[in-house]
Amino acid sequence: MMISLSRILFTGLFALALIACSEQASVSDSSASMTQAANSASASVVSRWYSDEQQALGSEVFTQNCAVCHGAQAQGTVEDWRARLDDGSFPPPPLNGSAHAWHHPQEILLQVVNYGGESLGGKMPAFIDVLDDAEKLAAIAYFQSFWTDDIYQQWMQMGGTN
Ligand code: HEC
Repeated sequence: MMISLSRILFTGLFALALIACSEQASVSDSSASMTQAANSASASVVSRWYSDEQQALGSEVFTQNCAVCHGAQAQGTVEDWRARLDDGSFPPPPLNGSAHAWHHPQEILLQVVNYGGESLGGKMPAFIDVLDDAEKLAAIAYFQSFWTDDIYQQWMQMGGTN
């Protein structure tokens, strides 16, 4: 009962997030954030929620579990990640700040990693039983390390770690 209820809630949240994303796609297209996000984060001035150790662990976790679909530097593996595939699902988006992973607060990012997108006809596998929480958060820290300070601050304003 609990499980199916939270699954339903999660599915609803994720669907909402996807809708929000497609509505906002044109806004972020025209913003300068796209090009800024293409530069990998070097020295960030804004302090982040994660430590260097978490980022380093995340690099390993991401390489082994996520890079095959999202790219080694979270840059994506498909040029047109906005176009639906023949089966109606979406290709894996970049997570480096150039797509819209930063529209989702940490809690939602963690839910995506936990449950994937399979229940919505998506292709993202669930990692709930594959990685422990420290590893999941580290993987998130790793792709966030490519976000510019500007993107990171917008993410914090839109919920971030709160
Ligand atoms: C088999 C390919 C695949 C693997 C492996 C994979 N993903 Fe995904 N990911 C996807 C796809 C496809 C989507 C789009 C939603 C869907 O179809 O499920 C997605 C969506 C996401 C999103 C939401 C992005 C957004 O803009 O809303 C996040 C965050 C994410 N993945 C993180 C990860 C992390 C972290 C890992 C490794 C622990 C990982 N993914 C492994 C395919 C994958």
